[in-house]
Amino acid sequence: MDLNFGSEFARRYVSEDETRRQIDAGEALLRQAQQGALWNDRWLGWFSVADSAPPALLDRILEEAAYVHRAAAVMVVIGIGGSNRGAMAAIDALHRGLRSPTRIVYAGDTMSGAALRDIVEIVKSESVMLNVIAKDFNTLEPGIAFRVLRGAMIEKYGADYGKRIIATGSRGPGQLFEMAQKNGYRFFDFPESIGGRFSVLSAVALFPMAVAGIDITALVAGAKAAEKELKETDLYSNPAARYAVNRNILFSKGFIIESLVLFEPDLNAFARWWTQLFAETEGKNQSAIFPTAFLYSEDLHAVGQYVQQGKRCIAETYLRLFQEDGDFLIGASGAVPDGFDYLDGKPFGELNRAVYRAALEAHSRDGVPCLEISVPALGERGLGELFYFFMFACYLSASLLRVNPFTQDGVENYKKNMYRLLGKTI
Ligand code: PA5
Repeated sequence: MDLNFGSEFARRYVSEDETRRQIDAGEALLRQAQQGALWNDRWLGWFSVADSAPPALLDRILEEAAYVHRAAAVMVVIGIGGSNRGAMAAIDALHRGLRSPTRIVYAGDTMSGAALRDIVEIVKSESVMLNVIAKDFNTLEPGIAFRVLRGAMIEKYGADYGKRIIATGSRGPGQLFEMAQKNGYRFFDFPESIGGRFSVLSAVALFPMAVAGIDITALVAGAKAAEKELKETDLYSNPAARYAVNRNILFSKGFIIESLVLFEPDLNAFARWWTQLFAETEGKNQSAIFPTAFLYSEDLHAVGQYVQQGKRCIAETYLRLFQEDGDFLIGASGAVPDGFDYLDGKPFGELNRAVYRAALEAHSRDGVPCLEISVPALGERGLGELFYFFMFACYLSASLLRVNPFTQDGVENYKKNMYRLLGKTI
């Protein structure tokens, strides 16, 4: 695994000694988590990539993706939270290199009628397949979007519409499996032992990724490499353990917010996946750092001022990951002098790296703890490593906080309120 965590900037605020002391203090918990022995009730299906993405499943995903490629110009992914953020993260991050006859659009993650009508128009005007994804088929947003889009599909394709639906869900009464069987939909299992936000390396996200043209074999290989390294490396030099410990040290020093700092807009959806992973996993007993994300340069001209001189409560985790695809040299300004001649002939990527360094140094010098995670290149393999790295680190971090990483009762409360407000009898 080629991923570096920490730098001289990180050590300014959390010393090596402190990190080692905290690893010592949490050693028993960290060691158990590293072996998958904590919270091992029934939610650790993601812990072994060989189990969540076995070769036979990858083969079937590729077959189904080829079926979609033959039949549809657009596939609508209907899902919310852990059911769509993983796929969205990968597809957005890698979209520049993807070649697929089928483009992906999303529905079921908002109650905006206007947004859903846009998708209905797509169903009317293009050849479409739906991939409806739900662990529990009782969440309102994807459930009602599926009803509306199913109606549009029936209107367009008649009795045969079922051949254009691929459901990814659970088995059991009232779940998508039952619906798929009754109506002739194609079906992928949402693994019983994996919750939404830990599902990115299962059929839940790998199928839409494959339809979008992502090399899922390479992505899974990257995840496996990360898994091997994180499970085998001793805690003191283990990047996931160090990251988990450092963010919790920072929280105890009053840095109650962690921002993942990005320099590529293509990583916005990845940041949303990361945010959900940490927020829903750790945000339970008022003892965890709040995860958010900033996109620089844009946010340097928005929240940068606060980060630099506002309340000292924000720590930053810089994701050193640049989009190499599409870099170019800056041409001369020619007949129109614009004052930027000192940039003539430079690769554009050099400017983005300069922003990285400038922000990191400025914030770090002024009192903002800055961690760094470096990934050499934005590609399938590196992304697979990152997905596994963050899930593993999040599991370790939640274990240190002694919160069950795999529940989300707060989300369930909001869902119950929705049912009450909209008149469902429970
Ligand atoms: O991570 C989670 O478990 C949640 O974010 C779920 O993915 C989200 O609530 C959607 O649930 P479902 O797929 O059951 O509709």
